[in-house]
Amino acid sequence: MLWGGRFDDKLDNDALRFSSSLSFDINLIEEDILVSKVHSEMLFKIGLITETEFNQIQKGLNQILAEWKDEKWNLKQNEFEDIHSAIESKLTELIGNQAGKLHTGRSRNDQVATDMKLWIRKVLQNIIELLTVTQKVFVTLAEDNVETIIPGYTHLQRAQPVSFAFHLLAYVEMFEADKNRFKNILTEIEECPLGSGALAGSTFSLDRNFTAKKLGFKSPTTNALNSVSDRDYLLDFLNACSIGMMHLSRLAEEIILWSSSEWELISLSDKFTTGSSLMPQKKNPDLAELTRGKTGRVYGNQLSLLTTLKGLPLSYNRDMQEDKEPVFDSFKTYFSSLKIVMMMMQTVKIFKERFLNELQNDFLLATDLADWLVIKGIPFREAHEVVGKLVKYCEDNSKTFGDISLNEMQSINKIFDKSALECLNIKTSLQRKKTYGSPNPKLVKKQIADWKKRFNAK
Ligand code: ARG
Repeated sequence: MLWGGRFDDKLDNDALRFSSSLSFDINLIEEDILVSKVHSEMLFKIGLITETEFNQIQKGLNQILAEWKDEKWNLKQNEFEDIHSAIESKLTELIGNQAGKLHTGRSRNDQVATDMKLWIRKVLQNIIELLTVTQKVFVTLAEDNVETIIPGYTHLQRAQPVSFAFHLLAYVEMFEADKNRFKNILTEIEECPLGSGALAGSTFSLDRNFTAKKLGFKSPTTNALNSVSDRDYLLDFLNACSIGMMHLSRLAEEIILWSSSEWELISLSDKFTTGSSLMPQKKNPDLAELTRGKTGRVYGNQLSLLTTLKGLPLSYNRDMQEDKEPVFDSFKTYFSSLKIVMMMMQTVKIFKERFLNELQNDFLLATDLADWLVIKGIPFREAHEVVGKLVKYCEDNSKTFGDISLNEMQSINKIFDKSALECLNIKTSLQRKKTYGSPNPKLVKKQIADWKKRFNAK
């Protein structure tokens, strides 16, 4: 118990269970021990504890961490308010009352704020690395599919042909944007709250620069009140997880569509599909569906913390303990979803020829044909009309752009000549794209080379 003095009675058991964060802030054990080690080092440095006390505290803290890692610490979840009190109590058990000196000039308010910043810093590194691995998987897959033609859609209606590589590279860019969002958070957690005390600093000459540097921060925070009240970086983290999940969810949806019998563009590995308990023929994309489904809870976590913080007067309020579960859950959910999606794409089989014939016998090159007319001097609006009529003619006569003759085209407009037919060849359609950013295989190869260069530079 960290605060018995002014109380006659112990906290009611139900009240303790209700208020305890130990079941989840146990996640912070490594960070909390590190913070305590550095804090005690600083206390020794400024003469508030002796060398012997310092050594005992260090030893005790090391032992707690070792016991925890070896699963030897029989930690009773329902006896403590949080990880901070559990560690202090264990330290007292190990080294006696001197453990109480560790909390000199410190409050759990600045302690937990420091722990959380350290924890976020750690998981940001993990996320950024996994995003890069995922990008590499996509770029490798793209390299193999520069000529794999698939329909591009708007409104989920077939629009214009693109390549599968082009489609994959769109996701590589989305992952890059995610990475930047996470990286930006690193700049928000450069200052160390430790030494802010409960809300108003300390009467001891704590060396805040020393602890900040030792813990890998650039400097101490400037305003003690804001230091213990600030959870903005957690909101930004939750937002980055939400957007990251939204990207994964859109991809998951596409994976589900692509693997359906209607599309048949990809086949997922048996390792990442499941069967039906009833229908023997089924191979279900459950993992993609779960990724899509889990997006909801990640959005929920973001709204949950925003709502918790709204209306809280400065500085620390116990409500703020509710920051942890959403943050831990969003990390776990986003990270595991990203990993699964990465592995699914690493093992996917692509049916490269799947759309070739089908698109040849469709109207996806209508825009290209209209562009051809424009080159011949016809205003685009008129060209649009002419090609529209040609599509209608085809539909009325059960024809497609795959089997229409030049004569038939000329019956719609005399201007058509042999070179117009070239516009209708699906195989060469991508090569005719000229603009920067288009699916022209040459440009797509350049995009791939640029991504690879970027990965190698890191
Ligand atoms: N478990 C608490 C939290 O996560 C630690 C800080 C408690 N501070 C306090 N004054 N009760 O917010």
